[in-house]
Amino acid sequence: METQSIVVLDFGAQYSQLIARRIREQNVFSVVLPCTASLEEIQSFSPGGIILSGGPSSVCDADAPAADDRVLRLGLPVLGICYGLQFMVHKLGGKVRAADKREYGHAQAELLSNDSPLFKGLNGPIAVWMSHGDEAVQLPPGFELIARTSNAVAAIQNPAQRQYAVQFHPEVHHTPRGTEILRNFVFDICRLKPNWTPQHFIDETVASIRQQVGKGRVICGLSGGVDSSVAAVLVDRAIGDQLTCIFVNNGVLRKNEFQVVQKNLRDKLGLNLDAVDASQRFLTKLARVTDPEQKRKIIGNEFIAVFEDEANRIEQLHGKVEWLVQGTLYPDVIESRSVRGPSQTIKSHHNVGGLPEIMKLKLIEPLKDLFKDEVRKIGSDLGMPEDILQRQPFPGPGLAVRILGEVTAERVALLQEADDIVVGEIKRAGLYTRIWQSFAVLLPVMSVGVMGDMRTYAYTCAVRAVHSEDGMTADWVELPHEVMKTISNRIVNEVRGINREVYDVTSKPPGTIEWE
Ligand code: XMP
Repeated sequence: METQSIVVLDFGAQYSQLIARRIREQNVFSVVLPCTASLEEIQSFSPGGIILSGGPSSVCDADAPAADDRVLRLGLPVLGICYGLQFMVHKLGGKVRAADKREYGHAQAELLSNDSPLFKGLNGPIAVWMSHGDEAVQLPPGFELIARTSNAVAAIQNPAQRQYAVQFHPEVHHTPRGTEILRNFVFDICRLKPNWTPQHFIDETVASIRQQVGKGRVICGLSGGVDSSVAAVLVDRAIGDQLTCIFVNNGVLRKNEFQVVQKNLRDKLGLNLDAVDASQRFLTKLARVTDPEQKRKIIGNEFIAVFEDEANRIEQLHGKVEWLVQGTLYPDVIESRSVRGPSQTIKSHHNVGGLPEIMKLKLIEPLKDLFKDEVRKIGSDLGMPEDILQRQPFPGPGLAVRILGEVTAERVALLQEADDIVVGEIKRAGLYTRIWQSFAVLLPVMSVGVMGDMRTYAYTCAVRAVHSEDGMTADWVELPHEVMKTISNRIVNEVRGINREVYDVTSKPPGTIEWE
């Protein structure tokens, strides 16, 4: 069965992803493409309807972003939102007048039509989050006004062409009935079926990987995190033993992580897992290095070297390796093809970058259309344990960017103990899944303390816990007093070598989540 989708064309709005999310929540697949996407690319997603997003520009500007006009003539239902409305008016023969400035805010929209399918089940007026920029002074032929606010056009339609547009944002929660409007578009106007379920996604993905790979040999770098594990399990379902997963101990994993990940993935999930303990190799290379970016580079390069050695070994055993599985998620894909300019690199993030080119591997990215919470749902339907699915993000360079200054085996061991206490207590308090990340950081700051009658002179440990949606911004968490107290007592009493604990009360920005 082919899944029909809603394609969202992005004119640079901050809400485009949210539109796709709202549609996906209805079990209908939706993708965001840049407004400049070719017709061929749009059609490759089998659209059953098109949504034109909002955007910061004015359609009257000379360099206003534009989509291929033919999307308005494909015979598919179209819903324009905000800039999308202006774009439709402008392209379909109406007139738009530039406004001096854009206004945002709460408004009441009066519904002028009782029988518009877009407003089925709604009685006006409705509260909307309005974004009022250019003004449509003349509607295109065939269009009628179906809603207005006190000073602007709020919605228009041309039902014969199944073309609709709203000036407000139905996707944000400030438009409380917005989801119903989107549902009306998707189910009543586009007539799509809510069949994009986790099981459907799994069946389709497994079948397509099988077809893509044939008898080929596949490798996958596992980190123990959610994304790479779910990607590996999906590929395993498709081709079983043709897949070898490689899990590298880089010497800066958390306490017992090398063993726990093996137990989870090999013993519980039956993955064909090649676990390589390369910790000495990494720690030797990291000796005397204090610069954070240098640490990242060393770990990234060493990872590629170890991975390549393993891949070569696998080739000797099983023949040519052709494919590499990556747990790339949808937000990464959107980020890399955003209509906005690339953002400045604050920290270089390490993954298996460079490997596919070096080894001439083709990529399998089974999660590239999914958001993180959708990946968790897929994992859950695949029967994966909750402790993998709910795991907080952990950076590729691991504890190396949480040990400020030089990374040594002794410092890694200290931090592993302290970190294990932090995570353990946060879990015990039932907070682990409600917090984006919580961890310990080892500072190269020695201070004086007293234990019993003994003077101590030892390291400082910082504890960090943040709430975040996506890691881009973050707020520090006000941990309950009791939890703070237990963590502090336990670290100072149980970890020999740490005699002082401090709590990080910096949000992002201006701080970053990791200390390095
Ligand atoms: P920052 O510290 O930049 O972190 O606020 C944002 C998110 O990214 C993670 N992070 C990394 N992940 N390699 C990774 O795979 C890295 O080098 C890296 N640096 C930061 C961090 O844990 C947080 O979730």
